[in-house]
Amino acid sequence: ARGGGGGARGLGFEPVAPNTADALTVPPGYRQQVVIRWGDPVLRGAPEFAPARQTAAAQAAQFGYNCDYMALLDLPRERDARLLVVNHEYTSEEVMFPGYDPDNPTREQVEIAWAAHGLAVVVLAEHRRSGKLTPVAGHRLNRRITATTPFEFTGPAAGSDLLKTSADPTGTTVLGTLNNCGGGTTPWGTVLSGEENFNQYFGNAASVTDPTTKARLARYGMSGGASERKWERFDQRFDLAAEPNEVNRHGWVVEIDPYDPTSTPRKLTALGRFKHEAAEPRLTRDGRVVVYMGDDERFDYFYKYVSTHRMMSGTSRRARRHNRGLLEEGTLYVAKFTGNSPAEEIDGTGALPEDGEFDGSGEWIPLASGDRSFVDGMTAEEVYVFTRQAADKVGATKMDRPEDVEPNPRTGAVYIALTNNTRRGAAGQPGPDEANPRTNNKHGQVVEVMESRNDPSATRFTWRLLLVCGDPNDPGTYFAGFAKDQVSPISCPDNLAFDPHGNLWISTDGNALGANDGLFGVALEGSNRGQVKQFLTVPVGGETCGPIVEEHRVLVAVQHPGEVDGSSHENPGSHWPDGPGTLPRPSVVNVTRTDGRRIGS
Ligand code: FEO
Ligand code: CA
Ligand code: CA
Ligand code: CA
Repeated sequence: ARGGGGGARGLGFEPVAPNTADALTVPPGYRQQVVIRWGDPVLRGAPEFAPARQTAAAQAAQFGYNCDYMALLDLPRERDARLLVVNHEYTSEEVMFPGYDPDNPTREQVEIAWAAHGLAVVVLAEHRRSGKLTPVAGHRLNRRITATTPFEFTGPAAGSDLLKTSADPTGTTVLGTLNNCGGGTTPWGTVLSGEENFNQYFGNAASVTDPTTKARLARYGMSGGASERKWERFDQRFDLAAEPNEVNRHGWVVEIDPYDPTSTPRKLTALGRFKHEAAEPRLTRDGRVVVYMGDDERFDYFYKYVSTHRMMSGTSRRARRHNRGLLEEGTLYVAKFTGNSPAEEIDGTGALPEDGEFDGSGEWIPLASGDRSFVDGMTAEEVYVFTRQAADKVGATKMDRPEDVEPNPRTGAVYIALTNNTRRGAAGQPGPDEANPRTNNKHGQVVEVMESRNDPSATRFTWRLLLVCGDPNDPGTYFAGFAKDQVSPISCPDNLAFDPHGNLWISTDGNALGANDGLFGVALEGSNRGQVKQFLTVPVGGETCGPIVEEHRVLVAVQHPGEVDGSSHENPGSHWPDGPGTLPRPSVVNVTRTDGRRIGS
């Protein structure tokens, strides 16, 4: 039966109207609960949040800043408990610290920021009747991983000269993970996390003189002097002129075993190095693992990795050891999208071509496999460490900022959020193509990819745009052909998730329509295909992250609430979630039905 607001199965809720409230707003009949906030205790002995007296030691034992990707895993051996894994992408120092002087950060402030980055692993108690989730502070599985936690390199570039530094002459161990954005959960129970805008932490690129190094740094967005946070003053590894290889040790997908708090987390060189938005695995019919990955930069690429070996099922020690190697040996590919309509019909406005769809075919171009490079003039190690330059050479398609990717567990179709690209069609920049059809693209699009024969390891695919986002009254938008007067406006798709009914859920970052960001459900099958419905909105300046949609709950991470021009500790842009007179706190929110029934029923 359909509930309020109609729509496909699982999407029967009254859509939330666009708004600019400093609140998280849910549909009528739903309730919300803040699960965990920046500064809440995670490890045993962690103090309560006290922002005026914050220390690095306290922060390293508390929930970090700017929560992004989330995995909510089962804990089969414990009653009514779940395991939450969360990325902490970056820090907002001007809000975190009283009287923050961006030109002169103190060592304590910098060390607090290091401790607020990384990931958190937190056991949650699940209250059956109310649906509430509450953190179990001090649980033996709880863990904080920060910008100083040791990681082991794995895969074909581990030990490469390109990864060696004065602190690590073997090129096998690196401290910390930075700018962890999206992620994924593997079928063998580990969590993947993408290191995204790592370039911002490294200073003094302008002082590098070697032309090859300079070109590599420039391709990854580094050419200036001091970094924004000035970390290079407190640890020389962030000074590119002193330690030119340290930056090569960031920009990877990392793998964490959340069930073993003593395990050493790993950086996976076989999956390439770029601004990793996310990493979403799936299995081939014969049990090999395929990981889809976006590089979130204007005009950058969409990638996949295909493992050589098959997954071993079960949780025996032998299976766990075997599966640990799956992301070490395989082939890395980059995508080329070809449209099927005449180029002159893609006029940059978003107007549909004559065949009625933005669609076409594509190919996966191999870059490297193990020690073998497929790219002229680059060794395999160079392909893994400077993957962007390898993809430039083989003619991959320059996309409108590939963010999250999610395979549909029911149909096998793969969805990619392309968030926006206002430089598309600008002077000296690539113009529109059928997969990226709008110039000055402020609102983004969602691509649907179907691998040839629905085989995730195929080297060919077909594709079509599901959504060309924006205000539905704008003729340059497209909602898979659904009636535009019955959809919610949507702008800047970022994270993706599936619900148990096969609907796609999309969270946004940077709404260019003047309202706050939010979370949307969209049907993919039947007569409702393309009907976008807004499920919630987040507070002023916040981004909606990490959506998880289960039968009875929706979980979102509210990242950087209050991130608006001029926001500071003294005058923050938001007071969510604690209310008037308080600092904004990035937090995880649990939404359930007031009557305890299923989401969207
Ligand atoms: Fe961290 Fe591309 O969003
Ligand atoms: Ca077409
Ligand atoms: Ca993102
Ligand atoms: Ca984003």
